[in-house]
Amino acid sequence: MNSFGQRFKFTTFGESHGKALGCVVDGVPAGIKIDEVFIQNEMNRRKPGGKYATSRKESDSIEILSGVFEGYSTGTSICMILFNENQKSRDYDNVKDLFRPGHADFTYYNKYGIRDYRGGGRSSARETSARVAAGAIAKMLLKELDIEVKSGISSIKDIQIPNEDLDFSHSSNSEVYSLNKNYDDKFKDAINKAREEHDSIGGIVALKAINVPVGLGEPIYYKLDAVLSNAMMSINASKAVEIGNGISSVKLNGSQNNDEITNDGFKSNNSGGILGGISNGDDINMKVYFKPTPSIFKTQDTIDINDKELKCELKGRHDPCVATRGSVVAESMMALVLADMLLLNMSSKLSNIKKVYN
Ligand SMILES: Cc1cc2nc3c(=O)[nH]c(=O)nc-3n(C[C@H](O)[C@H](O)[C@H](O)COP(=O)(O)O)c2cc1C
Repeated sequence: MNSFGQRFKFTTFGESHGKALGCVVDGVPAGIKIDEVFIQNEMNRRKPGGKYATSRKESDSIEILSGVFEGYSTGTSICMILFNENQKSRDYDNVKDLFRPGHADFTYYNKYGIRDYRGGGRSSARETSARVAAGAIAKMLLKELDIEVKSGISSIKDIQIPNEDLDFSHSSNSEVYSLNKNYDDKFKDAINKAREEHDSIGGIVALKAINVPVGLGEPIYYKLDAVLSNAMMSINASKAVEIGNGISSVKLNGSQNNDEITNDGFKSNNSGGILGGISNGDDINMKVYFKPTPSIFKTQDTIDINDKELKCELKGRHDPCVATRGSVVAESMMALVLADMLLLNMSSKLSNIKKVYN
């Protein structure tokens, strides 16, 4: 199950310490201007390095192998590849046979019977670099329709930016992808503290899609909110998803939670822009909750592949808070879902089909 999407589909390949990673994006309409600088910029937003992320140094230089001619998509599958440059598999020599608590080592080994101890192999979030490349193509399609997807960090551990103070224009200027400049230092201090204590912390990513037309989402089993949740929960370390004010809505009455409708639009947006699994034309708002990074430098109890109990003492390079770079991945997944839903929605009415064929 390495593929995602129905019409605008992508497949990723590669492991953390393998030779290369990449993706094949299929269903991309012909004629989209493919901006390679934009794709690389997206890769750079997610890539490791920087003061508040893992110190693994990767250029994440992306190369397009197919599907683009003279700067435009040809309608055939777009294959993109990036080569791993900074694998240090020896960092994992001392934990070769043991399972890191909180990581996927235990489940992957029990499922497949093969232990790729080099950085977690396919279970590593290094795979998400390929999703960002695919997401960049989706964003170019969305841009043609003025649809934009934005993201950032709304919360780190117990420090939370109130919803009304989320500033989606700030995260691209913030080293910790924060959604409010007054919280940059607080978030940095929390990440630094966790790192100094050889520990890790979690965080919440807020996402917004603007200019989304009414009608995206395929009831009953491919609803927009269901597919967005699936997409977000497929990201490493994501543990919960909230659409609109989904969680706090349980404490409200219907009269408070309903978004009243006027000819100028909805009076509020508690629904997060989705009703009945279909976009209602308002902004799509959602949140993704990331757990603390499993690989920490504190001694923990574990077992090895021979069921022997021992101590897990890690070396190597790890993100102290994965939510930060995870925000770029979540944004890419949102763009990929919206691109898929746009194409699927085109055949929902006879009148649409007639527009194409008459
Ligand atoms: C951008 C990103 C970077 C990550 N970096 C690390 C890391 O450096 N070390 C680590 O142990 N986990 C890291 N993770 C999380 C693990 O990949 C994830 O927790 C693991 O695969 C287990 O899956 P689960 O947490 O979804 O159950 C990262 C996740 C993301 C989204």
